[in-house]
Amino acid sequence: MAVDVILGLQWGDEGKGKIVDYLADKYDLVCRFQGGPNAGHTIKIAGKKYVLHTIPSGVFRPGIINIIGNGVVLDPITMVRELKSLDEAGIDYQSRLLVSKKAHLIVPTHRYLDAASEASKGEGKIGSTLKGIGPAYMDKTGRNGLRVGDILSADFDQKYRTIRQKHLGLARLYPEIEFDLSGEETRFFECVEVLRKLTFVNSEYYINDALTAGKKILAEGAQGSMLDIDFGTYPFVTSSNTISAGVCSGLGIAPNKIREVIGIAKAYCTRVGSGPFPTELEDSTGEKLRSVGSEFGATTGRPRRCGWLDVPQLLYTVMLNGVTQVIITKLDVLDTFEEINVATHYRYGGTESREIPFEITDIAIDPVWEKIEGWNQSLDGLHEYHHLPDKARAYISRLENLLSTRISMVSTGPEREKLLPR
Ligand code: GDP
Ligand code: IMO
Ligand code: MG
Repeated sequence: MAVDVILGLQWGDEGKGKIVDYLADKYDLVCRFQGGPNAGHTIKIAGKKYVLHTIPSGVFRPGIINIIGNGVVLDPITMVRELKSLDEAGIDYQSRLLVSKKAHLIVPTHRYLDAASEASKGEGKIGSTLKGIGPAYMDKTGRNGLRVGDILSADFDQKYRTIRQKHLGLARLYPEIEFDLSGEETRFFECVEVLRKLTFVNSEYYINDALTAGKKILAEGAQGSMLDIDFGTYPFVTSSNTISAGVCSGLGIAPNKIREVIGIAKAYCTRVGSGPFPTELEDSTGEKLRSVGSEFGATTGRPRRCGWLDVPQLLYTVMLNGVTQVIITKLDVLDTFEEINVATHYRYGGTESREIPFEITDIAIDPVWEKIEGWNQSLDGLHEYHHLPDKARAYISRLENLLSTRISMVSTGPEREKLLPR
């Protein structure tokens, strides 16, 4: 069978976790293919809220196997915290959670280096989640990294000491920061012991065998395409390939196995951390989006920057990912807006364009707005797409038209059931 992909089309936090959880019961396996605990995927079931950072969002669906793929960077400390919260919620994951031996480990000094590097950048900081993501991927590509499978080797302690020494040498390049290294190391080794109880697999074989056996796989992206290391707003990006190409390298799946690419976008746009955001609203409308949409980071609690939907940006990420359908989330957040704006083009360098310029971080971009009438009505209690107000459906149809891509579903609340197929 084939692999379907869910990924974010903006700067992250599009509501991927909710959609993965909703769709997961149509699949046999849900697999994370990149990123690490910089992600915060929120799921609301029966009034309870869960936030997952490393564990795939299929974990709440009984009987479904969840795999942390080789492309992920895993911090034993955050992972154990997540496992504890699943234990507390009574979720039985032991036989359903598998970890790739080739996933890379985040060690405490990765987090130290992340924080020290950001501190050294001052105003120019990326706004990293400080989870050690950049340094861990640097060690991976620099061929110094520690992998999950190394936990099982007899000389794991020695391997750890080698990488730690290297990091302490690098740390001298940066300003000193507060960090309880010995406390973090004690916790790290305690959590590594807990991790040993999980099932580690050669996930590329496991996944391809599952495909051969006719199983259905859902690949769950983290972050968003505008944070992709190659195509995002570099250097204000994360350190992995967040686009659909990352599924192949992050799980060991061949490109011809990928079927649907489901792109998730909010009905407006947000970004957390530094970097360009052409449609950002630094006024009371932006404030209103933030408060109505509860736009505060699921991982760091930071306020998210808010703005209107950006069509050139979405056309770019639809193109990069080969998106076959779009799901629009948080439509309900627009319920009380008299007027909604959408940027249809950019103006820069004396011309109008839909192309994301290479210089996006350095030049001024003026969005060209299209104004759309709001519906001024609560969407609460409307359980079918055709029950939505005409103006809400007109907004979705207009977006579909602008993106030339099918919008297959609309989300109208954080709860699992608030998802309306069209
Ligand atoms: P992810 O990182 O893409 O999984 O998204 P996050 O969990 O970081 O952020 C999405 C936030 O929006 C979470 O608090 C969700 O509970 C919430 N959410 C998801 N879909 C909807 C929706 O349709 N309406 C509203 N109001 N909230 C939503
Ligand atoms: P989910 O999966 C939103 C942002 C950070 C920062 C930049 C680099 O929940 O959508 P990093 O920690 O990777 O060094 O940070 O990327 N960022 C996210 N923003 N959602 C996320 O994940 C993010 N993961 C990283 O804020 O600007
Ligand atoms: Mg998130």
